[in-house]
Amino acid sequence: MEKINNITLLDKNFELLISEEEINSKITELARDISKDYTNSSNPPIIIGVMNGSLLFLSDLIRKLTINVELATIRISSYVGTTAGVIRELSDLGINISGRDIIIVDDIVDTGNSMDYLINRLSSESPASIRTCALFIKPSKFTKKFTIDYTAFQIDDKFIVGYGLDYNQLGRNLSQIYTLIE
Ligand code: IMP
Ligand code: MG
Repeated sequence: MEKINNITLLDKNFELLISEEEINSKITELARDISKDYTNSSNPPIIIGVMNGSLLFLSDLIRKLTINVELATIRISSYVGTTAGVIRELSDLGINISGRDIIIVDDIVDTGNSMDYLINRLSSESPASIRTCALFIKPSKFTKKFTIDYTAFQIDDKFIVGYGLDYNQLGRNLSQIYTLIE
């Protein structure tokens, strides 16, 4: 496949930051860690993917797991354009998570608001445990106290798109990660 290094979405230009190969090998490591940690669990963990951003990551990650898992998704929205906004819950979980081990999977932890909201929201349904997994974290923006149990890339405070992450809903289908050219 031809590698594209620069792309345009609406009014903004982006350049390649992380290749498909790098993403793939990091996800292989993450899947190995998660599989190892839950291999002796009596019940399969429930993976809860945060839509829409985690869609590509989620689908690649779960296929590399060597344990049984259940799958659910939740839809929230927190971004308008490139600026963080208020969190809105757009869909219900639709399953009972009481007494179960939960792994929340999101694309990126930026300020941590979304993940913090989800941890509190899901805790109220009495799961046995909650762990968090995010492909990317932006440490300089993180304002919360929770632990990110599984992560692959720490990135600077830059806006990125691709591999599920969007700019005004565009760019999610790109198979590599691109960063905004300011
Ligand atoms: P937080 O609530 O500030 O941690 O932001 C988390 C959510 O905002 C993520 O799940 C993404 O959907 C979105 N987000 C954060 N940073 C970026 C970015 O650089 N590009 C695209 N979406 C982002
Ligand atoms: Mg998101």
